[in-house]
This record gives sequence, structure tokens and C-alpha cells, in this order.
Amino acid sequence: MATVTYDHASRIYPGTERPAVDQLNLHVEDGEFLVLVGPSGCGKSTSLRMLAGLEDVNAGRILIGDRDVTDVQPKDRDIAMVFQNYALYPHMSVADNMGFALKIAGKPKAEIRSRVEEAAKILDLTEYLDRKPKALSGGQRQRVAMGRAIVRNPQVFLMDEPLSNLDAKLRVQTRTQIASLTRRLGVTTVYVTHDQVEALTMGDRIAVLKDGILQQVDTPRALYDTPKNVFVAGFIGSPAMNIGTFNVVNGVAKIGQAQIPLTREAVAGLTAEDNGKVTLGFRPESLDIVAENDPSAIEVEVNIVEELGSDAYVYGTLKGDLAGADLASPTAGDHEVIVRINPRTAPGKGERIHVAIRPGQEHVFSPSTGLRLSN
Ligand SMILES: Nc1ncnc2c1ncn2[C@@H]1O[C@H](COP(=O)(O)OP(=O)(O)OP(=O)(O)O)[C@@H](O)[C@H]1O
Ligand SMILES: [Mg+2]
Repeated sequence: MATVTYDHASRIYPGTERPAVDQLNLHVEDGEFLVLVGPSGCGKSTSLRMLAGLEDVNAGRILIGDRDVTDVQPKDRDIAMVFQNYALYPHMSVADNMGFALKIAGKPKAEIRSRVEEAAKILDLTEYLDRKPKALSGGQRQRVAMGRAIVRNPQVFLMDEPLSNLDAKLRVQTRTQIASLTRRLGVTTVYVTHDQVEALTMGDRIAVLKDGILQQVDTPRALYDTPKNVFVAGFIGSPAMNIGTFNVVNGVAKIGQAQIPLTREAVAGLTAEDNGKVTLGFRPESLDIVAENDPSAIEVEVNIVEELGSDAYVYGTLKGDLAGADLASPTAGDHEVIVRINPRTAPGKGERIHVAIRPGQEHVFSPSTGLRLSN
């Protein structure tokens, strides 16, 4: 078992100018399950491959425990990696697939057999040990790939989107299994996904990357409740947070007719660059239906209602005087807002509803820097 430390680690691919991973500083605790998440191309796989030794580190260093492994061969790093396409050897049995790395390492047959059997027991694969991969379901194959990593008893597990070949239902089951398994084994794990729901459900902590730059690393709860910038705010959460830029007059933000008082601290954080505007974020569940004459009422015309059984979401258009406002939700269109409502009292398409942001549940950001101003 070991910690993992990225110390100003950068990767610049030959022939490119912008680093794919830019001065990454990240410390993973012993036994921790850390998720790297971010949109396609943000540098997740590159970060993981740098740790595995499959990609050069052009600046900075990487440590496993106290050992600087920046220039250590992949095979000498004592890590095991599970890839997205888990590429089992089709002509080998499950047992041989799982034990292959140990065989290459010259371990005695009896030891290989007992480690494979132990891993198979943990993964519920005992009855499949003599089968070939083609006679297994997708989920079972995925567990064999996990088994290959487990038998090596490494200091660190690295997983790059290991569930993306599975269908939605199996993905949900398997992600719980992986999370509880790695915790039971107590092995430090770095897990890559582009799926923020997967990240929220699996990670002890989550590191959010964008364009090769680390945006925030925090617990799922802290990322959700206090995103450090507009990007993290819009990326974490489904449906996404409503985010818009609005005029500020005397410390009060105006969304249509609604007056949203800002804290003194938030107002103090605004600068001349912000041009008298503020960026506000409010999650679909932070809106309540209110009376039309409520001073904080925001008028919304219902475009569609999405029914999810336990919840329903209104996708609507903001109404009223929106001069100077700019609401572009990452999920909905321009001037669209998403409101979570009680499915039993859902309004119909074309109806107008009035909603208000629950006091204190707005997220306040600087329009010029995108950084959080509220606490
Ligand atoms: N071998 C390479 N040569 C040049 N550029 C590369 C190479 N591999 C990746 N890149 C670039 O580096 C950046 C990061 O790529 P990376 O594969 O780490 O992204 P990712 O976050 O894993 O994305 P995805 O979610 O799509 O897997 C991208 O802009 C990509 O185009
Ligand atoms: Mg990738």
C-alpha cells in the first residue's frame, strides 16, 4: 500500500505546444479511492499513464510512497492497470488470463494457482475459471480484468474507464462492486471516468480536470455544495446547475423582476472587470414554486416536463425583463432553466410558473474570472 503524489507533473506530447497535463499537483492518500473526472480530452488518461510509466513526464515528478518513480520502468512501479478495453487473451482460460502476469514474472505454479483462486473467490468467478472469455458475459469479463489486477497484489490500482463497455444497468452494479472491493482490499486506487455520476458515487475524493489543468479536488459533497469555479459548478450535477450572468444594482442581482440580495462578501469580490454583473448558479432542486407577487419570484414558461417517477424536471424559458442577462445552462438552451418539481403537481407545457431560489442556495461567481465569491 502506498500514497501517490503528482508534483508539478506535466506532459507535453511531441509536436504539440499546450501541455496535455499542466503542472499537476495531486496527493492521493494510502488506501484512498481517487477519481479523475473531466470532459473528453482534458488529460485524464494521460495523467494515469504518466503514473503507470506509459507516458513520459516532461516536467515535475511522480512519487509512489516516498519513492520518486518518474524515471522508473512501468514493470518496476508495483502498480496494476485496468483499461477500458480489457483485452483478455481469447485462447486462454479465465484462470490463465488472471495468472498470466504472475507466470511471466516466473512465480511458481502452486502460488499462481492459489492467488488466482483467491481472487476468483473475491470476484465470484470460481465456477468460470476453466472457461474461455468468449463464454462469459460482459460483466464477467470485466471482473476477470479486475482479477488480473488483483492477483498481482499491487501497491496501486489504476483504472481507465473500466466500465464503459458495459450496459447501463451492469455499469451501476459493477461500480458499486469495484468501489467496495478496492476498499476491502485497502489498495490505493486512481480511477478515471468522464461520467460525473460515476465519480460522485465511487470516489472518496474527486479531482476535476479541464484542458490539462486541475480545477478542484474535494469530496463529492464539497464539490457539489461548494464548486470553486463556474466550470466545476456546471460539470458536477445532473441535470446541470442553472448558471447565468445578471446585472447587479446596489448589491442586489436582478433575474427578471426577481431581486436576489448578494452577501457583502460576494459584492466585495466583484471588480471593475465584472462590469456591474454577477454570475449566479442555482441547482434545479434549489428552486421552489412561489406566488407570483413574491419579490424573489422568477417567471418561467414551461417548455417540457421530464418525468422520472420520483422526481420531475421542468425545462422552461425565463420570462420578464432580461436586459443584460445571459443565462446559458450547460444542459438546457439559452435563457432556459431547469426546475425540480413534485411530479404529482407538475404543470403543463406552455403554463407559466413562478419559482424562487431558496435563500442561501445560490452560488455566486465572478463573471470575469469564473471564480467562486460566496462561501
Ligand atoms: N499520443 C498523443 N500525441 C499527441 N497528443 C495526444 C496524444 N495522446 C493524447 N493527446 C492529446 O492530449 C490531450 C489529453 O488526452 P487524454 O487522452 O489524456 O484525454 P482524456 O481526458 O483521457 O479524454 P477521453 O475522455 O476522451 O478519454 C488531448 O487533447 C489529446 O488529443
Ligand atoms: Mg481517456
